[in-house]
Amino acid sequence: MPIHSPWRADFPGILALEAEGQTYLDSAATAQKPQQVLDALLGYYAQGAANVHRAQHLPGERATRAFEDTRAKVARWLNVPSAQQIVFTHGATEAFNLLAYGLEHLFQPGEQLVISALEHHANLLPWQQLALRRQLELVVLPLDADGLIDLQQAAQLIGPRCRLLAVSQLSNVLGSWQPLPELLALAKAQDALTVVDGAQGIVHGRHDLAALDCDFYVASSHKLYGADGVGLLCGRASALQQLRHWQFGGEMLRSAEYHSAAFSPAPLGFEAGTPPVSGVIALGAALDYLAGLDDARVIAHEAALHAHLLAGLRARDGIRVLGAPDVALVSFVVEGVHHADLAHLLSEQGIAVRAGHHCAMPLMKGLGLPGAIRASLGLYNDASDLARFFDALDKALELLR
Ligand SMILES: Cc1ncc(COP(=O)(O)O)c(C=O)c1O
Repeated sequence: MPIHSPWRADFPGILALEAEGQTYLDSAATAQKPQQVLDALLGYYAQGAANVHRAQHLPGERATRAFEDTRAKVARWLNVPSAQQIVFTHGATEAFNLLAYGLEHLFQPGEQLVISALEHHANLLPWQQLALRRQLELVVLPLDADGLIDLQQAAQLIGPRCRLLAVSQLSNVLGSWQPLPELLALAKAQDALTVVDGAQGIVHGRHDLAALDCDFYVASSHKLYGADGVGLLCGRASALQQLRHWQFGGEMLRSAEYHSAAFSPAPLGFEAGTPPVSGVIALGAALDYLAGLDDARVIAHEAALHAHLLAGLRARDGIRVLGAPDVALVSFVVEGVHHADLAHLLSEQGIAVRAGHHCAMPLMKGLGLPGAIRASLGLYNDASDLARFFDALDKALELLR
């Protein structure tokens, strides 16, 4: 059955790229936005922009209401009990840095921070640098043959010195769901804090953070069909209370003297300065859009794209898919072909895929690869995109081999 996306026409960016001869298969880097998100961005500016939490005037109240409505929508989307547990940052990367600085005071030299071998640099470097600052040990959980964090080894490595576990929900390279419940249980048994990188996971399906029961969950708006410049840090109330303030400036304080100040608790205490107002409001529009879709149809569509992409790659000689992807986010290499040459020929034919180390250099090194090609699909992709991709892939491989 041909794969048709009933939502394609909702995404002007996809239609514009198509008209330009471009097939967009890089949604894991950033997704295209539905019209509602574009309307929300334009609406905020066209109606009269205003800063939030500062002004009594009408535009200020309107912006603040829309901004705070988004906080409530995020809480509902992720089943977090209170909107006050949602902190807006300028991206997932900033949320990890907030955590690494905000939790630093809790750790003593010789204690361990535990991550995994597949982490994105955003969930590696802040912990690596924290470990260097505080003489902590950074423990890296290895992967099994399928590219999942190895639970047997994790059980050995997560011991009494572990103070924090920070792992990805869905790998941005291998496209595989990680065994979070088991890993979080291992960390909790040691009274360690738990951080989940949901930057990719949040895009696929609905997630119940109350059931997941981690201390912190991090994501980015721009991968979830929203605007860029907005990250999410969702925290358990007791975990947020342990954070020390890390960026200082306007609207994050209760009172200030020249030589001292008293700061607000989360969320506002961790949103110093003017936040990304338009982007947050647009995230609310993205969540409204997603909430209006038929979940069963979305799941079936994503599953069909995933199956078709994998089957097409596996049917071709010499292609090695990395790991065991669970979603339509698939990295691959081709025997005897450099990924950069292949990426060049694909992009010359209008195929937008990602090539390189995918911000996971240590993982690539561990796999013994200089890089890989990644095709990642969104709601708007359909059979015609995959047909163009495979056609271009065949032509490129014919030239290169
Ligand atoms: C798994 C994962 N974590 C974190 C990030 C960082 O997100 P951002 O660049 O939006 O801060 C990304 C972005 O690609 C990612 O894929």
